[in-house]
Amino acid sequence: MKRRPVVTIDGPSGAGKTTVSILLAENAGMMRIDTGAMYRAVALAARRAGIPWDDGTRLGELARGMALSFRSVAGSVRVFLGGEDVSEAIRTPEMSMGASAVSAHVPVREALVAKQREMGEGGGVVLEGRDTGTVVFPDAEAKFFLDAAAAVRALRRYRELGPAGCQSYEEVLSDVLRRDVRDSTRDHSPLRVADDAVYIDTTTLAVDEVVEAILRRLPGELR
Ligand code: DC
Repeated sequence: MKRRPVVTIDGPSGAGKTTVSILLAENAGMMRIDTGAMYRAVALAARRAGIPWDDGTRLGELARGMALSFRSVAGSVRVFLGGEDVSEAIRTPEMSMGASAVSAHVPVREALVAKQREMGEGGGVVLEGRDTGTVVFPDAEAKFFLDAAAAVRALRRYRELGPAGCQSYEEVLSDVLRRDVRDSTRDHSPLRVADDAVYIDTTTLAVDEVVEAILRRLPGELR
């Protein structure tokens, strides 16, 4: 039987992937898989277990054995490590950096890519991340790459973090730029635009316009 379509949305931090993929999943009745949240969960679990973010071998073991799941709670998708809801704990600036660091290790990537393929194998899913269209599902039915000027991406992150983020705009911008470099220059599965992805620059677009542009290009059965 033919699987339902797989849609991938890749791009750098703050390009709008999360907002857009949530709306898209709702609109098209798909399940959303936030692959960045999975790398964040590895960084958090490692910190708690005292495993340094540069120890690829132990991080790989941790990622393979981790009881990571997405569950719907009161209409929103939450991230669970075992029985604990870690959705907030993984969103700190520290875990953003940690996720970027742990995601550079091959054993971590192999463990999480295997989980992502398992979650999405039946189709009817929208995946968001850095390599979902290039590595996780290279045969996805529809691929998008969202991008925006770094200053605008940093401003979106800054507003999203709010006072709880305890970072100035300049600090957020500096983190965004550091993550850009690390995520796109690493040896394994760097951030890049898939040859067959639709590239959308969201710098001056409203969320609705981005969702509209994506919906227009989805396979008929999802529109
Ligand atoms: O999308 P995000 O900011 O939650 O992702 C956190 C980090 O995880 C990001 O800096 C790079 C890494 N990541 C990755 O390497 N591959 C993915 N598919 C998703 C995220």
